[in-house]
Amino acid sequence: MTIETRKVTKIFWQGKKEVVALNGVDLVVRTGSFVLVKGPSGCGKSTLLFTLGGMLVPSSGTVTVEGHSLYRMTEQERNGYRATHIGFVFQSYHLLPYLTVLENMLISRQLHNKMVTREKAIELAASLHIDHRLHHKPSGLSAGEKQRAALARAFITQPEILFADEPTGNLDPVNAKEVIDHLVRYHKNGKTVIMVTHGNEADDVADTILSMENGQIIHTTPLNSTS
Ligand SMILES: Nc1ncnc2c1ncn2[C@@H]1O[C@H](COP(=O)(O)OP(=O)(O)OP(=O)(O)O)[C@@H](O)[C@H]1O
Ligand SMILES: [Mg+2]
Repeated sequence: MTIETRKVTKIFWQGKKEVVALNGVDLVVRTGSFVLVKGPSGCGKSTLLFTLGGMLVPSSGTVTVEGHSLYRMTEQERNGYRATHIGFVFQSYHLLPYLTVLENMLISRQLHNKMVTREKAIELAASLHIDHRLHHKPSGLSAGEKQRAALARAFITQPEILFADEPTGNLDPVNAKEVIDHLVRYHKNGKTVIMVTHGNEADDVADTILSMENGQIIHTTPLNSTS
């Protein structure tokens, strides 16, 4: 599924002060691409991901998916689109606090109406080194464990488009590499991955780096265009 934005802006109000989080973003993300989003804190990376993912209405401009305008859909249609096609790893995890790690994974499967066995969930958790915490609630997890649980929850539904907002931000180098390897395998299976990162660990495998500054994409670096 190709996602395309035209002149997308997002303005937030902090009291009486206007904050321009996105300032005229034109972007095409093709099916099966691996896109990295980089840039300094506050430049609009998370806002861009939310907007692309159907979670945040832009102030102006359009976001289309396969030619359909995402924010002209009814809320129900957009929710359906998100549930069917999108996975999201939030920068701040957003795990459900009253459920265990395994329950967080299984409820995601249920919400997305995907047939995934409990065994498969446990296998996935093991591959992300979080299986020893399956029956713990998020409050009892370290930041890195929460991050891996959030990844497991996103991967379990096998979404066509996976958004990951700094998914290695709280991981040690070994776990960070595992997560990148997971995302690479995911991409190799034909899925679209859009990841915010400050590191270079995925540069070898990504197709494109979008460099952002002040709500704009200031530079697009094509990488492995033949891959
Ligand atoms: N809900 C909100 N209300 C008001 N301002 C917001 C809101 N969300 C984001 N902003 C502002 O929009 C700008 C872009 O925020 P965003 O979270 O997209 O940045 P970012 O590039 O993801 O930063 P970081 O690397 O720190 O995660 C920032 O100045 C931020 O303060
Ligand atoms: Mg952010």
